Amino acid sequence: MRISDTGDLWWKNAVVYCLDVETYLDWNGDGVGDFAGLVQRVDYLAELGVTCLWLMPFYPTADRDDGYDITDFYGVDKRLGTHGDVVELIRTCRDRGIRVIADLVVNHTSDAHPWFRAARSSKNSPYRDYYVWRSDKPPSTKKQVVFPDQESSIWELDEKTGEYYLHRFYKHQPDLNVANPLVRNEIAKVMGFWLELGLSGFRVDAVPFLLETTGMAASETERFADPHEYLRDLRAFLGRRAGDAVLLGEVNLPHPQQATFFGGEDGDELTMQFDFIGMQQMYLSLARNDAGPLVTALEARPEVSPDCQWGTFVRNHDELTLDKLTDDERQEVFAAFGPEKRMQVYDRGLTRRLPPMFEGDPRRTRMVYSLLFSLPGTPVLFYGEEIGMGENLDAEGRLAVRTPMQWTSGKNGGFSTAAPSRLAAPVVEGGFAPEFVNVSDQRTDPDSLLEFVSLLARRYRECPELGWGTFDALSQPHREVLAHRCSWDDGTLVALHNLGPEPRSVPLTLDGCGASHRLVDLLASGVTPLDESGAAEIALDGYGYRWLRVVAPDSRRMV
Ligand code: NOJ
Repeated sequence: MRISDTGDLWWKNAVVYCLDVETYLDWNGDGVGDFAGLVQRVDYLAELGVTCLWLMPFYPTADRDDGYDITDFYGVDKRLGTHGDVVELIRTCRDRGIRVIADLVVNHTSDAHPWFRAARSSKNSPYRDYYVWRSDKPPSTKKQVVFPDQESSIWELDEKTGEYYLHRFYKHQPDLNVANPLVRNEIAKVMGFWLELGLSGFRVDAVPFLLETTGMAASETERFADPHEYLRDLRAFLGRRAGDAVLLGEVNLPHPQQATFFGGEDGDELTMQFDFIGMQQMYLSLARNDAGPLVTALEARPEVSPDCQWGTFVRNHDELTLDKLTDDERQEVFAAFGPEKRMQVYDRGLTRRLPPMFEGDPRRTRMVYSLLFSLPGTPVLFYGEEIGMGENLDAEGRLAVRTPMQWTSGKNGGFSTAAPSRLAAPVVEGGFAPEFVNVSDQRTDPDSLLEFVSLLARRYRECPELGWGTFDALSQPHREVLAHRCSWDDGTLVALHNLGPEPRSVPLTLDGCGASHRLVDLLASGVTPLDESGAAEIALDGYGYRWLRVVAPDSRRMV
């Protein structure tokens, strides 16, 4: 392995940042964020250390699922800007060393998409087979719905033609029929279009549902006998059109099933997947002050091809799902971090952001972001995490965390000059309001969370062993401490995190090391010698964290 490989497989140690243009920065004063605003903040992102920007859907939409209900895959929502603005953004990002990826939402369309309008107009429409239909009454599918507060079946009767169409999500989001080669051509064309405009890949929405064969006629399941073959085709197509582009898949399934979406050892399907299991076990660990669940999850991650990568995260734009915990475990996390009913959604998740879960305790919040950046994988941030934004519990469900970015302590948090009543979403109020949490104040405060997260991003980039290396949990006596080592080539980083409030002294022995090695702190200044046997005692504050570079006598790595 060579350091220059990190420029080829760039996603293996990228710093990904997800945002919704609609809520980031409004430049024309109409209350809605726009590309003209976002492009003003590319330098902010670059300074933060972002190397890959993930844009949530910015396409024309019926706007009943925050943009995930698309009416034109080739367009740009007029409120946000034009194709020209998108290209200006991509080009400006490229200049600052940032790649741009965007949501590819092709499991379904909006029911207002012209394809579906045509499809439902007649059973003989050429677009009929773009969707999945059944003529007989479906059995109860109540248990399979994704949004149980709104839906009670995954099938909806279309009055006009008397047949039912499949919708994995809301009934206004009919599922596309990917067994139909015409639909597959359409999807490829959409990808090709945006790649041509300069995108470096896609965050692929709801991949397991995209590939599923539920409801397909026997003749179709025959021609779609191996859905993974389709994913392989998509990846190959992507590679042909843009050699360095990625597919970052949303696959919230147990690890062994996720392995199949990477294409097993061949690694020829999704390039990256979010580690939903690791994320959920991390919250269980935090609730218990016990590193055990997280360590078990990390150790159980399947081996993936060296070209593939896990995306690690603390928060995303949806509910903080805890669906893969047992009922009792989920209740433990609810009790610790979201005890009130209004903080919970769909009986499986939380609508909160991290700092309010910790009642604003900065030590705990920093410890978790230090942990995030030190885990093996590629960290993915959701906008506002870098400044410790809170949520708006008055907003419905998942909208609680989709509030405007807080730039200043001024009107609308500097997001927009429009009247507050015209904003795309209300600004957070209370203790996490812009008055107390904003970029402007934190930029000039060397002790701010923003400065800390920037430091983490910088150190993460300087430690390719985190994205590329092997992972070992180091044995030590404290259940609340996670001590782990990532190694790659001649680089080894040891990270320690104390999930509990009490200070701990952690005895460590590093095999292969001796008195000639030393441990150099990367987040603060400090050097710890090792003894003959490679042992040292490391002090950790309550909720403390340390990143230690193992420095061999002949090492020329930067310290
Ligand atoms: C997954 C997205 O993350 C979520 O926000 C959306 O509602 C569903 N897919 C349906 O598109």
